[in-house]
Amino acid sequence: MIVYKTDSEIKAMGESARIVALILDELRPQIQPGVRTRDLDAYAERRTRELGAKPAFKGYRGYPASVCISINEEIIHGIPSARTLRAGDIASLDFGVLYDGFYGDAARSYAVGAVTPLAAHLIAAAEASFHKGVEQMVEGQRVSDISHAVQTYVEAQGFSVIRSFVGHGIGHALHEEPQVPNFGFPGRGPKIRRGLVLAIEPMIAAGDWDVDILEDGWTAVTKDRSLAAHYEETVALTESGAVVLSRAGIPSESALRKEQPHA
Ligand code: MF3
Ligand code: CO
Repeated sequence: MIVYKTDSEIKAMGESARIVALILDELRPQIQPGVRTRDLDAYAERRTRELGAKPAFKGYRGYPASVCISINEEIIHGIPSARTLRAGDIASLDFGVLYDGFYGDAARSYAVGAVTPLAAHLIAAAEASFHKGVEQMVEGQRVSDISHAVQTYVEAQGFSVIRSFVGHGIGHALHEEPQVPNFGFPGRGPKIRRGLVLAIEPMIAAGDWDVDILEDGWTAVTKDRSLAAHYEETVALTESGAVVLSRAGIPSESALRKEQPHA
C-alpha cells in the first residue's frame, strides 16, 4: 500500500530531508585525501544528534553506522572504517535521518581530489539521471516512467544501471511502497499522484550491472569491479509539482498550499 502524504506531512518531511541535506553539505568539504571514513561517519552522527534527529541507518537490519560510505567499485552500503580516502577516489555517501516521526534519505557521490574523466563523467551522470527521473514525477505518469527515464539516460552515456537495488517510497518508514527501480519499461506500476514521496536513487556503473556482496555482508560492489556512483534525493509531488525535499534551503511555503488531506 502506498501512503500518500498531506501537504502538512510533506512539510514535516521537508524538515527531516533538510537535516540530511545540511549534513551531506557539511561533509562535502571534508571529502579530502587522508580522511578516515569512520571520522566522516562520526561527524554525521554527532551533527544528527545535535540537530535533534536520529541516524536512520544505524541498527537498521544490523547496519553498524550512520552513513554508508562506498568507494570506487563499491556501489552502496560500504561500512565506514579506518580506511582513508585517496585522491582519485569516488566516495559515495548515503545518509538518512529520522526526525519528528519522518525519514529523510539522500546520497551523493563526491570526487576525492582530482579524478579521471571517466570518474567525473560517472558522477555527473548519476546526478543527471536523477533529474531525468524527477522530470517524470508528474501527475498521471506511472512509477516506471521514472525508471525508464533514468535507464535511458544512463545507458546513452555508455554506463549501466544497477538492478539489484531500487529506490522507494519514504515516510514514517524508511522504505515504503512503491519500489522505484532504475530500469524498466515505461507506463507500468502505480500512477503518480499528489502526496507521493519517493527516494529516487540511481546507482550506476561504468561497466556491467552485476553485483557482489563483500564478506562483511553489506558492501555491494560491481562484479567486474568497475567504478560506481550513486545519487539520491527525497522528492515529493505537491500541487506545484515535484519538490526535492533534501536540499539545504527551506522548502518554499508557496510549494505547500494549505493542508488538504488525500488518500
Ligand atoms: N540508504 C539506503 C537506501 O537508500 C538504505 C540503507 S540501509 C542500511 O534505501 F542498512 F544500509 F542502513
Ligand atoms: Co534510499
